[in-house]
Amino acid sequence: MTDSSDPIADYVRRAEQDVRRVPGLPEGLQARVLKKAAVIGAGTMGAGISTSLVNAGLSVTLIDVDEAAVARGIAAIERNLDSAVKRGNATPEEAKERRALVTTATDTKQVAGAEIVIEAVFENLALKQQIFADLSRHAGPDTILASNTSTLDLEKIVAAAVRPERSIGLHFFSPAHVMKLVEIVRGRGTSPETIAACRDLIQRMRKIGVVVGVGFGFVGNKMLLDGYFREVEVLLLEGATPTQIDQAMLGYGFAMGPCAVSDMSGVDVPALIRKELFQHETRPFPYLLVTEALAARGRNGVKAAKGFYRYEAGDRTPHADADVLAICESLAHENGIARQVPSDAEIVERCMLQVINLGIALLDDGLAARPSDIDAIWLNGYGFPRARGGPMHYADELGLAFVLERIEGYRARYGAAWTPAPLLRRLVAEGSSLANLN
Ligand SMILES: NC(=O)c1ccc[n+]([C@@H]2O[C@H](COP(=O)([O-])OP(=O)(O)OC[C@H]3O[C@@H](n4cnc5c(N)ncnc54)[C@H](O)[C@@H]3O)[C@@H](O)[C@H]2O)c1
Repeated sequence: MTDSSDPIADYVRRAEQDVRRVPGLPEGLQARVLKKAAVIGAGTMGAGISTSLVNAGLSVTLIDVDEAAVARGIAAIERNLDSAVKRGNATPEEAKERRALVTTATDTKQVAGAEIVIEAVFENLALKQQIFADLSRHAGPDTILASNTSTLDLEKIVAAAVRPERSIGLHFFSPAHVMKLVEIVRGRGTSPETIAACRDLIQRMRKIGVVVGVGFGFVGNKMLLDGYFREVEVLLLEGATPTQIDQAMLGYGFAMGPCAVSDMSGVDVPALIRKELFQHETRPFPYLLVTEALAARGRNGVKAAKGFYRYEAGDRTPHADADVLAICESLAHENGIARQVPSDAEIVERCMLQVINLGIALLDDGLAARPSDIDAIWLNGYGFPRARGGPMHYADELGLAFVLERIEGYRARYGAAWTPAPLLRRLVAEGSSLANLN
């Protein structure tokens, strides 16, 4: 492919192609072409994933606990297909053919015959283990068993399956029939053949599949929660408002600000993640503290007409809410945080440096194979501005020595949450760049 006159667009295109080069996957490995799928759980994600599967021409058996749940899933798939027709992405005939590819069942035994089963039931470890144990009995010996978990330990889920080499994580993003990104989560036992078949499937869905390792939040959500959202919470306690933070990040080029994103996807989701996480791990203060306080008051976002913002009935336009500012102020007071409203430029810098530092740490941990994979993840799953190439590319543009110096500066002010990733120090000492690791 010839390079255009836009180096960042060229970089992004290469990054999105390079996700196909997976360490440990033999070059000419012939991917098995999957044609028959089953999806367990006909909720938000199950319906979206099923839509993507039929769009790629697979047949789907959609399974849930009872007829009512299955019917809700089917209605959602039909709505998705209708809107594809309205947008000109499918003809009415194509939509009809795709709808005909879906059959339903209320018993996991009906997975027999599927070449891949994607589990999208509630985010509960015991339940997912039960499903994987059932699948080990009822699915064929060659069937790939995939989990769509977004936060649970994949190793613990697949430990319940008898064939780890055929088990894998496929982390779709919501809405699953729209969002391009899928993190392909490689467990300790996942075979190259299983990865190759899933990679091929995701490509046929016209999505971007990035292979990542197992760890809290995989790659994208680890950087989001431990980096971006944690910093947003510090900023809120210091007196920045959701409006100021969101406007600053829109100014940087994000499609949406972090507070509006939380409200849209549901404030209860990260609040629950915090609760689960803190049962066995800790994070530097104030990890999702404001989020927790909002969720505790039923401020779960757009669906509750209040979250970081308030909303009018039937309208998604965010309005500033003095109650939220009061909640932040009282949390700051309780925790002895000095109020010192940061500038917009500082908001952007602190959020982006946190995202960058965590991304570099993930490279060291081997959860991400290369910097450009991280960029492909943030561009396709998190609304990162394409014109900036992704957080790793942006770090190189800033210059790693400058990045390190700024992080050290914030460490002097804020402590351990700003500890530079060891790989960042090494690259600076060598005078190298992240691009050199691609
Ligand atoms: N919603 C998101 O934004 C999002 C994004 C990425 C990943 N995920 C993950 O996807 C999974 C599903 O999330 P969701 O938002 O679609 O949940 P949901 O509540 O909308 O749907 C879950 C469905 O699973 C069904 N179910 C429960 N037990 C079952 C069983 N034993 N057999 C068959 N079906 C059963 C429920 O009846 C329900 O229809 C979770 O693991 C979640 O963490 C969600």
